[in-house]
Amino acid sequence: MAKIVEATGYGGAEVLSVREIELPEPGVGQVRVTVRAAGVNPADAKAYSGQMGADPASLPMRLGFEVAGVVTAAGEDSGLAVGDEVVAFRISGGYASDVVVSATAALPKPASLGWAEAAGLLLTGATAVHTLTATAVAEGDTVLVHGGSGGVGQMAVQLAVIRGARVIATAGPRNHDLLRDLGAEPVSYGDGLLGRVRALAPDGVDAALDLVGTDEALDVSLALVADRSRIATIANFGRAGQAGVKVLGGGPGADPGTELRAAARGDLLDLAGSGRLRVRVQQTFPLDRVADAHRLIGEGHTTGKLILLP
Ligand SMILES: NC(=O)c1ccc[n+]([C@@H]2O[C@H](COP(=O)([O-])OP(=O)(O)OC[C@H]3O[C@@H](n4cnc5c(N)ncnc54)[C@H](OP(=O)(O)O)[C@@H]3O)[C@@H](O)[C@H]2O)c1
Repeated sequence: MAKIVEATGYGGAEVLSVREIELPEPGVGQVRVTVRAAGVNPADAKAYSGQMGADPASLPMRLGFEVAGVVTAAGEDSGLAVGDEVVAFRISGGYASDVVVSATAALPKPASLGWAEAAGLLLTGATAVHTLTATAVAEGDTVLVHGGSGGVGQMAVQLAVIRGARVIATAGPRNHDLLRDLGAEPVSYGDGLLGRVRALAPDGVDAALDLVGTDEALDVSLALVADRSRIATIANFGRAGQAGVKVLGGGPGADPGTELRAAARGDLLDLAGSGRLRVRVQQTFPLDRVADAHRLIGEGHTTGKLILLP
């Protein structure tokens, strides 16, 4: 038996519930993983919010794209063995005590990386790699990161610094020390953002990453970056495409970057395992407090990953 979280309707966190199911044995090329930690992401809450459609046929809906755990059964040709410690991304239904997943989704967990950190690394990390690659961020560039204090933002800031870029990142004032710590120059979002960034970078900004989806983030990026192919958004699926910027991820008309994101996993695990990339965990929750985790992520101001510990 496995404990799973599912959304039984469309709405707020109150539609989430935990129940037990019978888990199938892993088939060819699959493994069963006992989940030690599962990453929570805003997309998990958006999926059942109704804002991405409310098809009754999709209910009940399993949630969770990333986990870290231990292989407890290995199907034929999985290439993994019972006892292997793995990080699995991208999967579905990761909010669970146990999952059966394709072995291709599972990579070895570096021993130095904690369970919670490992479970919170790959979705944000791979998304950040996609934005930096799509905008060709390289040594010597000045990059503006909107939402540098968020889950994707902290990854994008650190990875841009590793690429040798100068990073200017937006956040609320209480997160400015965090941004400095990650290697960025902080600015507050809100009225006057364009002027504040211009004052910091009078010679211009080479690329911009919109990780928040506000009109302000798009307008400031368009005003500062001459080459629109060096602006990317992961959260504006409306005006951004018409403006000629790169729209990335799962939204309508966006480039999902499936292969690029899958290929990024190994490097991300290496960087995190060697301590060059940090995953900040804000809070952990037992599985039956998943609704509390979702209320918190829904506020849009967490400064570290929220992690479920089944
Ligand atoms: N397309 C994709 O592939 C993809 C992948 C992952 C995530 N996403 C989306 O990208 C967004 C960010 O994800 P995440 O996991 O990083 O979320 P998160 O951890 O909740 O981070 C939210 C960030 O937004 C900032 N913020 C909040 N209100 C703001 C405002 N009015 N103006 C500017 N910044 C503001 C927060 O800053 P402070 O806390 O400092 O105020 C924080 O840095 C979400 O919408 C998510 O669904 C898309």
